[in-house]
Amino acid sequence: KGKRAFIAGVADDNGYGWAIAKSLAAAGAEILVGTWVPALNIFETSLRRGKFDESRLMPDGSLMEITKVYPLDAVFDNLDDVPEDIKTNKRYAGSSKWTVQEVAESVKQDFGSIDILVHSLANGPEVSKPLLETSRKGYLAALSASSYSYVSLLKHFLPLMNPGGSSISLTYIASEQIIPGYGGGMSSAKAALESDTRVLAFEAGRKHKIRVNAISAGPLRSRAAKAIGFIDMMIEYSKANAPLQKELSADEVGNTAAFLASPLASAITGAIIYVDNGLNAMGIGV
Ligand code: NAI
Repeated sequence: KGKRAFIAGVADDNGYGWAIAKSLAAAGAEILVGTWVPALNIFETSLRRGKFDESRLMPDGSLMEITKVYPLDAVFDNLDDVPEDIKTNKRYAGSSKWTVQEVAESVKQDFGSIDILVHSLANGPEVSKPLLETSRKGYLAALSASSYSYVSLLKHFLPLMNPGGSSISLTYIASEQIIPGYGGGMSSAKAALESDTRVLAFEAGRKHKIRVNAISAGPLRSRAAKAIGFIDMMIEYSKANAPLQKELSADEVGNTAAFLASPLASAITGAIIYVDNGLNAMGIGV
């Protein structure tokens, strides 16, 4: 029987979430996505108008099907969390049931269960500020959108995940090494995400037989990365210094996610897997 995946954090065809969806679809999985509420309209319109058709092309020549797109804002766990200004915001008022708990309930109602959960989202409003200039509010917002959002997603989706299932998030090496420019508490958020990957692997493994891993990905020119401002420099740096001197393709991360979600990875949990052309292994640039 085919597996079903829910991928949170797909709003265009440039990011890691899209590439992961494609690799999972190519491996036979049914694809559900969670799209940030403010980005939902453009994403659905573009999908409908065929703007992504070229990127939907899979190795066998067919087009990736997305069975359903759910509006999602992963900084809110349930309606009690949502402040008045968001509730009445035009972009939010046009959709409903987009808190994490409500999305999990909707997926359960629509499909009963899933096998694969992917968290491919992050947000740090002060990412361009050095940590020393980051406000408490900005720091906590980065942690809320980029780290706790994963704890919350897994917590609410676990009850509908089939035993043997797999959960994957995306992290970045700035969690463990100094990457100037990855600021606003985003380096802290990724450190939390990686630590949580281990603890969640224990809890979800013991309780539900679910594996929990993270992919530490190299630089990709996604929408989120362009907002940080130094992505072209990071791609150049990697090409110049990594053991494999090529640009990283999002598909290489997608294929690793498909492996981690498959029975081929049945003993891998609590792991941070580097998909970065080996850059993490370098001590100095040469
Ligand atoms: P992306 O822009 O394709 O994905 C980020 C997504 O997060 C967007 O679709 C955005 O709408 C969504 N999002 C933001 N706040 C949200 C919220 N509150 N609720 C729901 N969705 C929300 O960019 P990218 O780069 O593919 O990011 C995916 C993951 O990969 C992130 O965790 C990022 O930190 C990670 N990553 C990216 C690298 C890169 O160079 N692009 C390198 C290593 C990790």
